[in-house]
Amino acid sequence: MKFNYHGHSCIEIQTDEVSLIIDPFLTNNPVASVKPEEIKVDYVLLTHGHDDHILDAPQIAKQNNAQLISIVELATYMSWKGAQTVGMNLGGTYKTEHFQVKMIQALHSSSYTEHDNQNIVYLGAAAGFIIKIGGLTILHSGDTALFSDMKMIGKRHQIDVAFLPIGDHFTMGPEDAFQAAKWLGARYVVPIHYNTFPPIRQDGELFINRLAAKGIKGKALNPGESLSSKEILEALNKR
Ligand code: NI
Ligand code: MN
Repeated sequence: MKFNYHGHSCIEIQTDEVSLIIDPFLTNNPVASVKPEEIKVDYVLLTHGHDDHILDAPQIAKQNNAQLISIVELATYMSWKGAQTVGMNLGGTYKTEHFQVKMIQALHSSSYTEHDNQNIVYLGAAAGFIIKIGGLTILHSGDTALFSDMKMIGKRHQIDVAFLPIGDHFTMGPEDAFQAAKWLGARYVVPIHYNTFPPIRQDGELFINRLAAKGIKGKALNPGESLSSKEILEALNKR
Protein backbone atom coordinates (compact mmCIF):
# COMPACT_ATOMS: atom_id res chain seq x y z
CA MET A 1 0.00 0.00 0.00
CA LYS A 2 1.21 3.47 -0.88
CA PHE A 3 0.29 7.02 0.12
CA ASN A 4 0.90 9.69 -2.51
CA TYR A 5 0.93 13.26 -1.25
CA HIS A 6 -0.27 15.79 -3.81
CA GLY A 7 0.09 18.86 -1.59
CA HIS A 8 -2.31 20.64 0.78
CA SER A 9 -4.72 18.00 2.18
CA CYS A 10 -4.74 15.74 -0.84
CA ILE A 11 -3.75 12.14 -0.11
CA GLU A 12 -4.06 9.33 -2.61
CA ILE A 13 -4.08 5.79 -1.20
CA GLN A 14 -3.21 2.90 -3.52
CA THR A 15 -3.38 -0.80 -2.75
CA ASP A 16 -3.19 -3.67 -5.22
CA GLU A 17 -6.99 -3.87 -5.19
CA VAL A 18 -8.29 -0.34 -4.80
CA SER A 19 -7.31 3.32 -4.94
CA LEU A 20 -8.85 6.41 -3.44
CA ILE A 21 -8.13 10.10 -3.22
CA ILE A 22 -9.00 12.42 -0.36
CA ASP A 23 -9.64 16.16 -0.89
CA PRO A 24 -8.31 16.66 -4.44
CA PHE A 25 -7.14 20.25 -4.92
CA LEU A 26 -4.76 20.31 -7.87
CA THR A 27 -5.99 23.03 -10.23
CA ASN A 28 -5.01 26.48 -8.88
CA ASN A 29 -2.87 24.80 -6.23
CA PRO A 30 0.60 26.37 -6.56
CA VAL A 31 2.34 23.30 -5.07
CA ALA A 32 0.37 20.46 -6.71
CA SER A 33 2.54 17.95 -8.50
CA VAL A 34 -0.05 16.30 -10.76
CA LYS A 35 -2.91 17.32 -12.98
CA PRO A 36 -6.44 16.08 -12.26
CA GLU A 37 -6.55 14.22 -15.59
CA GLU A 38 -3.59 12.07 -14.41
CA ILE A 39 -5.45 10.77 -11.36
CA LYS A 40 -6.82 7.23 -11.63
CA VAL A 41 -8.90 6.21 -8.63
CA ASP A 42 -11.93 4.14 -7.66
CA TYR A 43 -13.16 6.47 -4.90
CA VAL A 44 -13.05 10.18 -4.06
CA LEU A 45 -13.48 11.16 -0.41
CA LEU A 46 -14.26 14.75 0.60
CA THR A 47 -13.94 16.06 4.16
CA HIS A 48 -15.88 19.31 3.54
CA GLY A 49 -16.99 21.75 0.88
CA HIS A 50 -14.24 24.39 0.82
CA ASP A 51 -12.71 24.83 -2.61
CA ASP A 52 -9.19 23.90 -1.43
CA HIS A 53 -10.59 20.39 -0.81
CA ILE A 54 -13.10 19.75 -3.58
CA LEU A 55 -12.00 21.76 -6.60
CA ASP A 56 -11.11 18.81 -8.81
CA ALA A 57 -13.47 16.26 -7.26
CA PRO A 58 -16.23 16.35 -9.92
CA GLN A 59 -13.76 15.93 -12.80
CA ILE A 60 -11.80 13.14 -11.09
CA ALA A 61 -14.97 11.31 -10.07
CA LYS A 62 -16.44 11.56 -13.57
CA GLN A 63 -13.34 10.64 -15.56
CA ASN A 64 -12.82 7.52 -13.42
CA ASN A 65 -16.45 6.57 -12.94
CA ALA A 66 -15.49 6.73 -9.27
CA GLN A 67 -17.80 6.86 -6.28
CA LEU A 68 -17.63 10.09 -4.33
CA ILE A 69 -18.07 9.75 -0.57
CA SER A 70 -18.90 12.74 1.63
CA ILE A 71 -21.45 14.11 4.08
CA VAL A 72 -24.96 14.08 2.59
CA GLU A 73 -25.32 17.79 1.74
CA LEU A 74 -21.97 17.90 -0.03
CA ALA A 75 -22.78 14.61 -1.77
CA THR A 76 -25.98 16.09 -3.14
CA TYR A 77 -24.10 19.19 -4.32
CA MET A 78 -21.49 16.99 -6.03
CA SER A 79 -24.21 14.88 -7.65
CA TRP A 80 -25.48 18.12 -9.26
CA LYS A 81 -21.97 18.45 -10.74
CA GLY A 82 -22.33 14.99 -12.28
CA ALA A 83 -20.57 12.74 -9.75
CA GLN A 84 -21.90 9.37 -8.53
CA THR A 85 -22.13 9.86 -4.80
CA VAL A 86 -22.53 8.11 -1.48
CA GLY A 87 -23.82 10.51 1.16
CA MET A 88 -23.16 9.65 4.78
CA ASN A 89 -23.03 11.48 8.08
CA LEU A 90 -21.01 11.80 11.28
CA GLY A 91 -20.57 8.53 13.15
CA GLY A 92 -21.51 6.39 10.18
CA THR A 93 -19.33 3.77 8.52
CA TYR A 94 -19.44 2.90 4.84
CA LYS A 95 -18.01 -0.47 3.84
CA THR A 96 -16.71 -1.41 0.45
CA GLU A 97 -15.14 -4.67 -0.65
CA HIS A 98 -11.61 -3.40 0.03
CA PHE A 99 -11.85 -0.76 2.77
CA GLN A 100 -14.19 0.83 5.25
CA VAL A 101 -14.51 4.47 6.15
CA LYS A 102 -16.00 6.05 9.26
CA MET A 103 -16.98 9.70 9.21
CA ILE A 104 -15.88 11.60 12.31
CA GLN A 105 -16.35 15.12 13.56
CA ALA A 106 -14.13 18.03 12.55
CA LEU A 107 -14.35 21.46 14.16
CA HIS A 108 -14.52 23.68 11.08
CA SER A 109 -17.06 25.17 8.66
CA SER A 110 -18.21 23.75 5.34
CA SER A 111 -19.50 25.72 2.40
CA TYR A 112 -18.92 26.49 -1.23
CA THR A 113 -18.70 30.09 -2.44
CA GLU A 114 -20.26 30.69 -5.84
CA HIS A 115 -18.43 33.90 -6.69
CA ASP A 116 -20.38 34.58 -9.90
CA ASN A 117 -23.70 35.05 -8.12
CA GLN A 118 -22.24 36.03 -4.72
CA ASN A 119 -23.83 33.05 -3.04
CA ILE A 120 -22.46 30.89 -0.22
CA VAL A 121 -23.88 27.37 -0.27
CA TYR A 122 -23.67 25.71 3.15
CA LEU A 123 -22.85 22.03 2.85
CA GLY A 124 -23.45 20.30 6.15
CA ALA A 125 -20.82 19.71 8.81
CA ALA A 126 -17.10 19.45 8.23
CA ALA A 127 -15.76 15.93 8.78
CA GLY A 128 -12.74 13.73 9.07
CA PHE A 129 -12.31 10.08 8.14
CA ILE A 130 -11.04 6.94 9.81
CA ILE A 131 -10.22 4.50 7.04
CA LYS A 132 -9.37 0.84 7.54
CA ILE A 133 -7.42 -0.27 4.53
CA GLY A 134 -4.56 -2.62 3.77
CA GLY A 135 -4.28 -3.74 7.40
CA LEU A 136 -3.82 -0.18 8.73
CA THR A 137 -6.13 2.31 10.39
CA ILE A 138 -5.68 5.74 8.85
CA LEU A 139 -7.08 9.01 10.15
CA HIS A 140 -7.47 12.03 7.88
CA SER A 141 -8.77 14.75 10.18
CA GLY A 142 -9.90 17.14 7.45
CA ASP A 143 -9.65 20.80 8.38
CA THR A 144 -10.14 21.03 12.10
CA ALA A 145 -9.39 22.86 15.29
CA LEU A 146 -8.21 20.88 18.27
CA PHE A 147 -11.12 19.35 20.21
CA SER A 148 -11.04 17.23 23.34
CA ASP A 149 -13.09 14.35 21.88
CA MET A 150 -9.92 13.44 20.00
CA LYS A 151 -9.11 11.64 23.27
CA MET A 152 -12.28 9.57 22.85
CA ILE A 153 -11.45 8.85 19.22
CA GLY A 154 -7.96 7.76 20.30
CA LYS A 155 -9.40 5.46 22.98
CA ARG A 156 -11.85 3.80 20.59
CA HIS A 157 -9.55 3.44 17.60
CA GLN A 158 -5.96 2.30 17.29
CA ILE A 159 -4.76 4.97 14.83
CA ASP A 160 -1.73 3.79 12.89
CA VAL A 161 -1.30 6.81 10.64
CA ALA A 162 -2.78 10.28 11.14
CA PHE A 163 -2.81 13.05 8.55
CA LEU A 164 -3.17 16.28 10.55
CA PRO A 165 -3.26 19.95 9.48
CA ILE A 166 -0.49 22.14 10.92
CA GLY A 167 -0.94 25.28 8.79
CA ASP A 168 -2.67 27.42 11.44
CA HIS A 169 -4.90 30.37 10.42
CA PHE A 170 -7.68 28.14 8.95
CA THR A 171 -6.99 25.01 11.02
CA MET A 172 -4.88 23.79 13.92
CA GLY A 173 -1.34 25.08 14.00
CA PRO A 174 1.65 22.94 14.99
CA GLU A 175 1.11 23.36 18.76
CA ASP A 176 -2.47 22.11 18.62
CA ALA A 177 -1.65 19.42 16.06
CA PHE A 178 1.04 18.14 18.43
CA GLN A 179 -1.60 17.84 21.17
CA ALA A 180 -4.00 16.21 18.69
CA ALA A 181 -1.41 13.58 17.78
CA LYS A 182 -1.02 12.72 21.48
CA TRP A 183 -4.76 12.66 22.22
CA LEU A 184 -5.45 10.52 19.15
CA GLY A 185 -2.68 8.12 20.17
CA ALA A 186 -1.44 8.29 16.58
CA ARG A 187 1.54 6.04 16.00
CA TYR A 188 2.73 7.76 12.82
CA VAL A 189 1.88 11.33 11.83
CA VAL A 190 2.05 13.16 8.51
CA PRO A 191 1.47 16.94 8.56
CA ILE A 192 -0.82 18.42 5.89
CA HIS A 193 -2.55 21.73 5.00
CA TYR A 194 0.59 23.87 5.17
CA ASN A 195 3.03 25.67 2.83
CA THR A 196 0.42 25.92 0.07
CA PHE A 197 -0.08 29.68 0.52
CA PRO A 198 1.74 32.33 2.61
CA PRO A 199 -0.75 32.44 5.55
CA ILE A 200 -0.19 28.73 6.29
CA ARG A 201 3.60 28.60 6.07
CA GLN A 202 5.02 26.18 8.65
CA ASP A 203 8.09 24.05 9.27
CA GLY A 204 7.08 20.41 8.78
CA GLU A 205 10.47 19.05 9.87
CA LEU A 206 10.32 20.98 13.14
CA PHE A 207 6.89 19.47 13.81
CA ILE A 208 8.18 15.95 13.10
CA ASN A 209 11.21 16.49 15.35
CA ARG A 210 8.98 17.63 18.16
CA LEU A 211 6.84 14.50 17.79
CA ALA A 212 9.95 12.33 17.68
CA ALA A 213 11.06 13.77 21.03
CA LYS A 214 7.82 12.33 22.45
CA GLY A 215 8.33 8.98 20.75
CA ILE A 216 5.81 9.57 17.95
CA LYS A 217 7.05 8.69 14.48
CA GLY A 218 6.20 10.63 11.37
CA LYS A 219 7.34 12.21 8.17
CA ALA A 220 6.87 15.55 6.42
CA LEU A 221 6.19 14.80 2.76
CA ASN A 222 6.82 17.18 -0.12
CA PRO A 223 4.11 17.40 -2.76
CA GLY A 224 4.74 14.57 -5.22
CA GLU A 225 6.34 12.33 -2.58
CA SER A 226 5.01 8.93 -1.59
CA LEU A 227 5.16 6.87 1.56
CA SER A 228 4.77 3.10 1.59
CA SER A 229 3.07 1.13 4.33
CA LYS A 230 6.31 -0.89 4.51
CA GLU A 231 8.26 2.25 5.40
CA ILE A 232 5.69 3.14 8.06
CA LEU A 233 5.70 -0.34 9.60
CA GLU A 234 9.51 -0.38 9.68
CA ALA A 235 9.56 2.98 11.46
CA LEU A 236 6.99 1.76 13.98
CA ASN A 237 8.95 -1.37 14.75
CA LYS A 238 12.18 0.55 15.34
CA ARG A 239 12.93 1.50 18.90
NI1 NI B 1 -11.64 24.29 5.02
MN1 MN C 1 -8.78 23.95 3.89
